[in-house]
Amino acid sequence: KKTIAVITSGGDAPGMNACIRAIVLTANRFGHQVIGFKHGYNGLIENEKVLLSPFDVQHTIQLGGTILKSARCLAFTTDKGLIAAVENLNKNEVDALVVIGGDGSLRGLDRLQKHWDGQVIGVPGTIDNDLNGTDNTIGYQTAIDTALDSIDKLRDTADAFERIFLVEVMGRHAGFIALASAVASGAEQALFPESIDDPHTELESIVQHVECLRQVKGKSSIIMVIAEHLWPGGVSDLAETLTNQIGIECRPCILGHIQRGGAPVAYDRILATKLGSYAVEIINEGQSGVMVGEINNRQCAHKLNYVYSEQKELDPYLVKIQQNLFDVVQCLNLSK
Ligand code: F6P
Repeated sequence: KKTIAVITSGGDAPGMNACIRAIVLTANRFGHQVIGFKHGYNGLIENEKVLLSPFDVQHTIQLGGTILKSARCLAFTTDKGLIAAVENLNKNEVDALVVIGGDGSLRGLDRLQKHWDGQVIGVPGTIDNDLNGTDNTIGYQTAIDTALDSIDKLRDTADAFERIFLVEVMGRHAGFIALASAVASGAEQALFPESIDDPHTELESIVQHVECLRQVKGKSSIIMVIAEHLWPGGVSDLAETLTNQIGIECRPCILGHIQRGGAPVAYDRILATKLGSYAVEIINEGQSGVMVGEINNRQCAHKLNYVYSEQKELDPYLVKIQQNLFDVVQCLNLSK
């Protein structure tokens, strides 16, 4: 019988509770004890812990956020913080630590495993979907639907006023949410880091694109979905520049942390339940130093440094069709 510790770390993601629940229920079935440390790695450093029984996780599968709270933890990047965390893991006789989080949290876990003898298992929990070793991260599908809901609403007002809307979505340095929400909402343009080398040289083609869409294709409203951190000065700056250059009202809209909240969609609840259960199963097998994931509907486990080292590739077909559907070259040919 083992003692399994679990934390949720970094940006919270819908489905984290479903994952905690699955870990607790599966562990309980095997007779293991589960301790939750609160506020991410801070809880490990401060020894802020709670015992988690099946009773504690009942009726949590549908809840957004995380019952264990989350945080980013600067202290954990220092040697002092790391040593305190290791001491508390040993003091509580923890055999295995499960971290549900994104890129930064799994890097932290990789560092921890070099200084602690217990088993360490990562679970991909982030709306950004920017981890290798899994097709989807927990929270990503919910975030797309949340962004989509807002973009659909913006379309109504954009169309009524015949305006251009620039919608900024999250994703850290990856374009997963931007691309998916753009395709699903029928947005006329998607700008994300994987498709743009230098935003400064991009302005002319954006202007040309907008003019083609209006004059040639007769678009009364235009939605541009833009990944965060992409445009120097942000979407408000770009909206102002475009308004001046094109002479049509452009409005910025930053969706922000709304994308992190809400009840997880069914896909995320199911993925979280599978990955939480699988994490406990591979702890039983004695595995360590890996992140659990799902590729083509099959559970898998990849080394921690693999999942965060390389930039994860966007679906190339989706990138291609988003560009083709509103192709500016074809648009220019039509106008001849
Ligand atoms: O990683 C999740 C995420 O929501 C990113 O999309 C975003 O860049 C970041 O976290 C925002 O972080 P914070 O909540 O600390 O502002």
